[in-house]
Amino acid sequence: MKIALIGYGKMGKMIESIALDRNHEIVLVIDQANAQDLTIENLQKADVAIEFSTPQTVLQNLETAIKAKVPLIVGTTGWYGHLQEVKDNCISTGSTVMYGSNFSVGVNIFFQINQQVAKMMNKFSDQYDVGMEEIHHIHKLDSPSGTAITIAEDIIHEFDHKNEWVDVKSDDPVTNHKPEHLIIESYREGEVPGTHAVIYDSDVDRIELKHIAHGRQGFALGAVIAAEWLKDKSGFYSVKEMYDFKA
Ligand SMILES: NC(=O)c1ccc[n+]([C@@H]2O[C@H](COP(=O)([O-])OP(=O)(O)OC[C@H]3O[C@@H](n4cnc5c(N)ncnc54)[C@H](O)[C@@H]3O)[C@@H](O)[C@H]2O)c1
Repeated sequence: MKIALIGYGKMGKMIESIALDRNHEIVLVIDQANAQDLTIENLQKADVAIEFSTPQTVLQNLETAIKAKVPLIVGTTGWYGHLQEVKDNCISTGSTVMYGSNFSVGVNIFFQINQQVAKMMNKFSDQYDVGMEEIHHIHKLDSPSGTAITIAEDIIHEFDHKNEWVDVKSDDPVTNHKPEHLIIESYREGEVPGTHAVIYDSDVDRIELKHIAHGRQGFALGAVIAAEWLKDKSGFYSVKEMYDFKA
């Protein structure tokens, strides 16, 4: 498979290494310094493109890939406020896009567990309050993480008494906490690749669900597997549609 990499930072470099190990070819590498080379003509040399750039540049890159009609995996987070317009653009032009706040199989299993547990805990919401924590490296540009937002939205979907998530930074103490708010405490520490926890706390005990990434390999491998899956499809997909966890 011929792959175009859009964004050649920490994730782009790891994706390159995993893609080469899986016998794919990298035919285009775009980063900030050569962003002008992201043209329709150059993109069309690839079978699929994988985008891990920045929240500031992803929408422009998406637009170009959609025009080029090259199937695109989007790992960049921090742009989901524009999801509907990108989806409409993708579908109306007959292009192919898959987005995901997290491509790793472990986190996608965690998403499923989270939904099941939230459904169960909603029945005990008179006894347990639910909150979240996420920890990432200090270079991360968005907060809370896209993965944390997916987890939070899945909880809110199941919980009758939660209607909105609220981001609280580690240096910004929790204030004006309304019971209907789902608090996400975001911590930025060292080089932490990504830790997410969902906490159910009552007067008598505490239940924690936690995913700890040991590195970025899981995210990168998931993105390459997603590109292999997407290559011959058309339409607009979430990574959740790729993983089938039915027993
Ligand atoms: N979905 C997932 O599984 C997942 C996993 C990890 C990270 N992420 C997200 O992926 C994104 C990238 O993460 P990272 O750790 O590689 O960040 P990074 O800062 O290491 O890399 C981003 C790269 O994008 C480049 N860039 C800047 N402008 C560009 C442009 N116009 N076109 C192309 N590239 C450009 C930067 O020069 C940089 O090299 C972030 O949004 C992060 O949150 C998603």
